[in-house]
Amino acid sequence: MSKLIINKEQRKSFINRNIYGHFSEHLGRCIYNGLFVGEDSEIPNNKGMRSDVVEALRKIKVPVLRWPGGCFADEYHWKDGIGPKEQRKKMINTHWGGVVEDNSFGTHEFLELCEQIGCEPYINGNVGSGTVQEMSEWVEYLTFDGVSPMAQLRAENGREKPWKVKYFGVGNENWGCGGNMRPEYYADLYRRFQTYVRNYGDNKVFKIACGPNVDDYNWTDKVMASAAPFMDALTLHFYTFPGKWFEKQPALGFEKETYYETLKRTCYMNELIENHSRIMSRHDPENRVGLIVDEWGTWFKVEPGTNPGFLYQQNTMRDAMVAALNLNIFNRHSDRVIMANIAQLVNVLQAPILTEGDKMVLTPTYHVFDLYQGHQDATLIDSYVESTVAGTEKFNLPALDVSTSVDNQGVVHVTIANISADDAQQIDCPFALDGKNISARILRGNINDYNDFEEQNRVRVENYTGIRVDENGFSFLMPACSIMEIVIG
Ligand code: AHR
Repeated sequence: MSKLIINKEQRKSFINRNIYGHFSEHLGRCIYNGLFVGEDSEIPNNKGMRSDVVEALRKIKVPVLRWPGGCFADEYHWKDGIGPKEQRKKMINTHWGGVVEDNSFGTHEFLELCEQIGCEPYINGNVGSGTVQEMSEWVEYLTFDGVSPMAQLRAENGREKPWKVKYFGVGNENWGCGGNMRPEYYADLYRRFQTYVRNYGDNKVFKIACGPNVDDYNWTDKVMASAAPFMDALTLHFYTFPGKWFEKQPALGFEKETYYETLKRTCYMNELIENHSRIMSRHDPENRVGLIVDEWGTWFKVEPGTNPGFLYQQNTMRDAMVAALNLNIFNRHSDRVIMANIAQLVNVLQAPILTEGDKMVLTPTYHVFDLYQGHQDATLIDSYVESTVAGTEKFNLPALDVSTSVDNQGVVHVTIANISADDAQQIDCPFALDGKNISARILRGNINDYNDFEEQNRVRVENYTGIRVDENGFSFLMPACSIMEIVIG
């Protein structure tokens, strides 16, 4: 028997809804075929955006979407993607598969997509191969309401009124694909570029600096030391994979040992956030600068027969567990983590949605975002679960993991994962319900279970009716390899 403690009186940090954010890059079939099919497509669409995908994204209340990369961002020249489509430049997507990028999805299309989904745009500018002028003009094109060359160009392209664009990234992975820079050099460039990222009218840009790769603490230290006063947030990238980076392992058909290795590895996110936060606090004692984990998720071998540059992988209950553990970590660190963007939204890496022609599949990861949506803009409350250990001799970790919040209606949301591949857990929670309703939903399966185009609902969310209430609180049996949302209110 495990005990779940929920301390409702101990309210902690605000859980920014943007923790439940996503990322879309011009990579493989994420934008083209995944999100955007063009107005002439036979696949049902609204102004070129896939209707099935947009509807699914609205259901999980996607709060924010990052675009256009990724590595693609530091090679992207935004003026190639505006104006009449037939005149837009065709280019090679050198990073991702060497395919032709026809720029038919550009600034206007991205902002149209965000409007249809109902989410905020997060645009990532080009530092690696771009200019200060180019970045500055993009912000003017997006947000300036008045007489100016960029506002006029926007109007000529059919958009009189500016958009509201809050989140703007100044470069991506500038320690790697974004220019192979040293932190001292990037920090100076950041200071220079961001100077010309202007606030027009009441559009206040939230400036995001490129942060470290995984445990590059020196990057965080140097960039914060020199540029902290000029930024609103710093990013962190950490991908989860078992084994070695250069020997990627399949997304399907893995052993139990590899399952636990993957989950153990993903929990490293906790340590990374704590260590980078500590360094950030040295330079920013008031915690003004947020941490944005704008690339996270699993990275496996591509599916057989697919373009290696497209990063297309299947998605199992193991991915669902990775999502559940990370989202609980982000909730628990919501005093510092103000946004996170899983990589990537459709058909790339740990994708919540897969498409093939006119078919769409919701992956186990999608269902976790569904189960966790009650945390968006709620307040974290103290919770803890006593737990046995699950795993193998080499890779073991607590079987249960939890985070809890209370929303502004007083409704309590508990999200809990039982990572054990084999053992159910009996859980007892001494929590006074005070006449409130309690309900639960569950995602469960075997570790290797997944959905595909032939069987789309093998893994799905179901109502859970096994909660027993008595005068001491409530109790329930959590099946092996399952994730639950419990709602009290
Ligand atoms: O998400 C795929 C790639 O991973 C991104 O383009 C890059 O930023 C990271 O290395």
